[in-house]
Amino acid sequence: MPIVSTTEMFKKAYDGGYAIGAFNVNNMEIVQGITEAAAEVNSPLILQVSAGARKYAKHVYLMKLVEAAEADTGLPIALHLDHGADFEICKSCIDGGFTSVMIDASSKSFEDNIALTKQVVEYAHDHGVVVEAELGTLAGVEDEVKVSAEDSSYTRPEDVEEFVSRTGCDSLAIAIGTSHGAYKFKPGTKPQLRFDILEEVSKRLPGFPIVLHGASSVIPKYVDIINRNGGALVDAIGVPEEMLRQAARMAVCKINIDSDLRLAMTAGIREHFMAHPDHFDPRQYLTVGRAYIKELVKDKIVNVLGSDGKA
Ligand code: G3H
Ligand code: 13P
Ligand code: ZN
Repeated sequence: MPIVSTTEMFKKAYDGGYAIGAFNVNNMEIVQGITEAAAEVNSPLILQVSAGARKYAKHVYLMKLVEAAEADTGLPIALHLDHGADFEICKSCIDGGFTSVMIDASSKSFEDNIALTKQVVEYAHDHGVVVEAELGTLAGVEDEVKVSAEDSSYTRPEDVEEFVSRTGCDSLAIAIGTSHGAYKFKPGTKPQLRFDILEEVSKRLPGFPIVLHGASSVIPKYVDIINRNGGALVDAIGVPEEMLRQAARMAVCKINIDSDLRLAMTAGIREHFMAHPDHFDPRQYLTVGRAYIKELVKDKIVNVLGSDGKA
């Protein structure tokens, strides 16, 4: 099976009340850890690449790694551009073999967001590629762009029908209180998401796939391992897994996870070096980092996303 589009995946996920994990990839060990986990539990996958990942690893290496993962496992895998900032990067990924792109014009005005998203949709659809757009702004850090909690804003449900019909986008990321990175909620407060907004959006867009960014849970197990081994992560708080399960049962078909991968891999590598400070063969510590990614992703698929057995 070649690298696939998300259309079929989202339809099945919507109808089945589960979500597909969209995992950020930056190198071979991350791709392998994710896909080995998905293969063991027979899950479809979205592997996504940010502008930063393309800069770090180069488009062609990531493209070939994802093709290799597909050839190795036979799983339905979509290759997606995460947070495309302009038409040029979306075009470059479409021309370069991605099956899905995100145009993130969420920081622009409503009209400018519509105009740019529409331009990307027209080019993408002409080339058989699907488009994720965003309405509302998440707090947190993506590449070098940092959005403070004060500058973030929830999606306005009354905007979504007009936005989707005028742009023709295929899925929509909404802001309901998640944020990027490992520090999502104020320490001492109870994490809360605006499920009422998700509910209202899905009523206005029946059957339409919704995307949740900033969905790492910042699993204490990995934070503790990092801190026990010389790290200093303080007050790192993620999205409770039960909230992700609830979102997956609702209209959310794609759940984005990056920070949890970073924490798991770093935990494995830090632990390895504490036990073996003399090691200098990268295969020794990267084997452990990859195994930690695999363990994390398998747990996500089976216990949070519910996409196991759906490949
Ligand atoms: O939403 C952002 C993702 O976590 C990607 O992060 O831009 O540092 O690669 P990055
Ligand atoms: P996290 O930082 O919560 O992993 O979010 C990742 C994301 O939304 C990528 O687009
Ligand atoms: Zn994101």
